[in-house]
Amino acid sequence: MHDDPAAALADAIGRAATALRKARHVCVLTGAGMSAESGIPTFREALTGLWSRFSPEQLATPEAFERDPELVWRWYEWRRELVRRSEPNPGHYALAELAGRVPRLTLVTQNVDGLHQRAGSRDAIEYHGNILRDRCTRESAVTARADWSASGLPECASCGALLRPDVVWFGEPIPGGPMLQAADAASRCDVFLSIGTSALVYPAAGLAEAARRSGATVIEINPNPTDLTPHSHLALQGPSGRLLPALLQLLRAG
Ligand code: APR
Repeated sequence: MHDDPAAALADAIGRAATALRKARHVCVLTGAGMSAESGIPTFREALTGLWSRFSPEQLATPEAFERDPELVWRWYEWRRELVRRSEPNPGHYALAELAGRVPRLTLVTQNVDGLHQRAGSRDAIEYHGNILRDRCTRESAVTARADWSASGLPECASCGALLRPDVVWFGEPIPGGPMLQAADAASRCDVFLSIGTSALVYPAAGLAEAARRSGATVIEINPNPTDLTPHSHLALQGPSGRLLPALLQLLRAG
């Protein structure tokens, strides 16, 4: 036990590095906190979180889109602009490097910003979709946008139907592929990293428990305690953009 928080954190990072060195399969779940240091607001942080400023019921449900697609589109265009102007942070790059340092790594992200991919992570499972893609409301397929639109809103280039952002809204199921891939990886991994998520939104929040039940070591990286903290084997309290590079530095040192 350490009285000094810095020593306790250094010890926890050391133990996390030991667990990763022995790992055969690492499963990583990331949330909005992963992109906070890239300037993208999280959802639930008291004053800065999107949901403290906007109502999810008005902006992130199929009913809201049905009711007022223009309002929803204006909000998503604003968020898209935030994403386009942002860059991956050292945490994203550290995770991309980690994939090359362990036998197998499955990255499941709740983030729709594509920053993991821009940092070089391949095959990231986009559990909640991707905000920069359009999906046709009639064909339910990712599609190109028509050059001209009768409604003034984005329309499908092939069938003319209204487009929506290719994200999972509240009340909608996770697409089958990502759902199964993530559940499979969580139940087979021997180290599960939960990074920058409040662990409140299911089914993503159930993955850590599934991993723990299958005998994996659960490691949380978050500056704040969450519902998962008491159920984690290791809780690294701090920003992922600082702690993940510190972890990689230890792994590089062998
Ligand atoms: N590094 C790591 N974690 C951080 C950082 C940081 N720099 N800054 C904040 N956090 C943590 C917060 O303490 C919080 O626990 O990130 C978490 C963000 O939680 P939420 O805002 O609830 O985001 P998330 O868990 O990703 O939300 C899940 O809910 O709104 C829906 O679809 C949306 O994918 C999202 C889902």
